[in-house]
Amino acid sequence: MNMKRLLVPFLVFTAGLLVLVVTAGLLLFPSQPQRSAGKVPIGGPFKLTSHEGKPFTEENLKGKPFVVFFGFTHCPEVCPTTLYDLTQDMAALGKDASNLQAAFITVDPERDTPELMKTYLSSFDPRIVGLTGTEEEVAAAARTYKIYYRKVPTDGSYTMDHSATLFLMDSKGEFYGTSNFQEPEETRRAKLRQLVKNG
Ligand code: NI
Repeated sequence: MNMKRLLVPFLVFTAGLLVLVVTAGLLLFPSQPQRSAGKVPIGGPFKLTSHEGKPFTEENLKGKPFVVFFGFTHCPEVCPTTLYDLTQDMAALGKDASNLQAAFITVDPERDTPELMKTYLSSFDPRIVGLTGTEEEVAAAARTYKIYYRKVPTDGSYTMDHSATLFLMDSKGEFYGTSNFQEPEETRRAKLRQLVKNG
């Protein structure tokens, strides 16, 4: 008997079987939703100063689900848009968002004093706390959230390049998910609603 003539149909059969098994596996065990039981190493301890000039750590946020966003008050567009959207979203969530907290951490501590952050944030939801610190404290906080930021010189001044991710954290301070200003309003609000309900 010619084994080579049997080999091709055998391989085709085996490949077909493999596809069937993988498909059945995917149907039976769909990929987990975004929640990952705190296994994602994003977020963690930080030591900063609030816009009220008081010491503020991640412990001040734990106990309730919270949102963390890194930016700076001189940001021309992304930061104000994000904070405006977040303010609208929190209002839209109404009572549901009553235990939601939010932190706006500056990546520009050189200019963003607690006083300036307080004035800046008075245009947004009062639950958003502004956080600043020394260069080192801010860098350490940014590292725990794995965000990128960089000083970019402009004509006689500078601006900051930075990640614009909204981090959704559960009440234990564990990573829950992300959002950002480019997401449709409906998506953002659904995520926040889910965070408030399950986080
Ligand atoms: Ni910005």
